[in-house]
Amino acid sequence: MKKPIIIAPSVLSSDFSRLGEEVEAVAAAGADWIHLDVMDGHFVPNITFGPPVIKSIRGRTKLPFDAHLMISPADPYLEAFAEAGCDRITVHAEAGPHLDRSLQAIRHLGRKAGVALNPSTPPGAIEYVLDRLDLVLLMTVNPGFGGQAFIPAIVDKIARVKALIGGRPIEIEVDGGIAPETAPLVAKAGATALVAGSAVFTKGGEAAYRKNIEAIRMAADAAIGLAV
Ligand code: DX5
Ligand code: ZN
Repeated sequence: MKKPIIIAPSVLSSDFSRLGEEVEAVAAAGADWIHLDVMDGHFVPNITFGPPVIKSIRGRTKLPFDAHLMISPADPYLEAFAEAGCDRITVHAEAGPHLDRSLQAIRHLGRKAGVALNPSTPPGAIEYVLDRLDLVLLMTVNPGFGGQAFIPAIVDKIARVKALIGGRPIEIEVDGGIAPETAPLVAKAGATALVAGSAVFTKGGEAAYRKNIEAIRMAADAAIGLAV
């Protein structure tokens, strides 16, 4: 049976001056996971937040915290992100020389382990770490900023990653430029979790977020033949 699509709003596009309230609002609006974009100004050309900020909002919702680490190196900080309350911790394959070790470390911390691939990184990057993975995050934009245009070439990569995964219980998450127009393309290709920042956090608070999440969810679920 097909699983409903997971919607993971990225707080990158929220109002940081009211981050706790924004997390509560998007959770009440029907989010499945809270996506947290951590950037270091080194691996990507932007800086966001780290474990203390994540810890400060952990009490605002029971939803899983889905941390996307765009930092290099990542290994020295994995424990801090686990302690801050991240349920899923995703590192970039391009961010360090020892991906297998990073994934083992995340699982040893009792968290779900993910690997993210930049648009130009081939799907084979996950081939020899499949047994260490709970999630593969395919970037559908170049990481660093919200509000960028979806890269259509990645639709084919989603299908190739799906084939590599086979029957394993690994989520395929896509991140960047996801909106009601692009959600059907990625869902049909095999994406099971959709990150959306600017398409969710528009003006209007909880009511607007609910409408935005529903529009993405309905477009994706309809594309994979789930009743909406
Ligand atoms: C980009 C981040 C994304 C970003 C997506 O580096 O990883 O999670 O928030 O933003 P949108 O949905 O606006 O493309
Ligand atoms: Zn992200």
